[in-house]
Amino acid sequence: MDRNTALDQPHSARMYDYFLGGKDNYEVDRRAAEEILRVWPGIRTAAQANRQFMHRSTRFLVDAGIRQLLDIGTGIPTEPNLHQIAQQAAPESRVVYADNDPLVMAHARAFMTGTAQGRTTYIQGDVTKPNSILRAPRLTEILDLSEPVGVSMIALLHFVESGAGRLVSEFVDALASGSYLVICTATADFAPEQVATARAIYRSRGISAQDRTRAEVVELFSGLELVEPGVVPPHQWRPNALTDVSASYDAEVSCYAGVARKP
Ligand SMILES: C[S@@+](CC[C@H](N)C(=O)[O-])C[C@H]1O[C@@H](n2cnc3c(N)ncnc32)[C@H](O)[C@@H]1O
Repeated sequence: MDRNTALDQPHSARMYDYFLGGKDNYEVDRRAAEEILRVWPGIRTAAQANRQFMHRSTRFLVDAGIRQLLDIGTGIPTEPNLHQIAQQAAPESRVVYADNDPLVMAHARAFMTGTAQGRTTYIQGDVTKPNSILRAPRLTEILDLSEPVGVSMIALLHFVESGAGRLVSEFVDALASGSYLVICTATADFAPEQVATARAIYRSRGISAQDRTRAEVVELFSGLELVEPGVVPPHQWRPNALTDVSASYDAEVSCYAGVARKP
């Protein structure tokens, strides 16, 4: 049994499922998640804000004419999933999901419920090895990389400790002009102690963890055109009318989000 499937090790996807109120988690994940909740009580709010950002940014991409989507770090299925959002707006949308966790693979059937006009598929791949995703035969069957693609890395890059800029560039370099990159990732800018302690807990449980400053997140979009409102906490990215924008909410969520277009 490898690290991802061992039941004596917590795992980020199952902990996140617990934060979202899901049932696909084990005692070891709940114990680690409760430890995080003690120092970061707002992390459930963060997970919800992150999901809602996924909903709004996916609709934005479809409205911008994108019909091919690649979602990396997909997580355990949580309705509505990204393909459901995209295909509700444009049924012909084609969606490829990628995650490195065999547990997510075990749930992949839930991602295959696409429309007749569109297609969805799942590949097991590691964002730190871009070619394991970009060159996967199942990806190239569904996505035409010579046409624009929307690539989302939502609540993913805070599990990559180093080299995030280089690997994001490798993905962007493989995309056609008119493609989009969507990122949402953790920051310690609003609540330094809370996030530093959470980072230490993740690392002590064998899970890579790295928060980033706003400037570091902006840097991930190098060479791309950020769409309005730029890099902001996810609930401030094109919010629906009733979104909370108080400073305490920023600290609960402790993430930055942005969407950018490849010129
Ligand atoms: C917090 S979940 C985010 C799920 C979903 N994107 C969302 O925002 O609701 C992070 C996911 O990233 C995956 N992940 C972590 N490191 C990864 C890597 N190196 N390559 C691919 N996926 C990874 C985890 O397995 C987990 O499913």
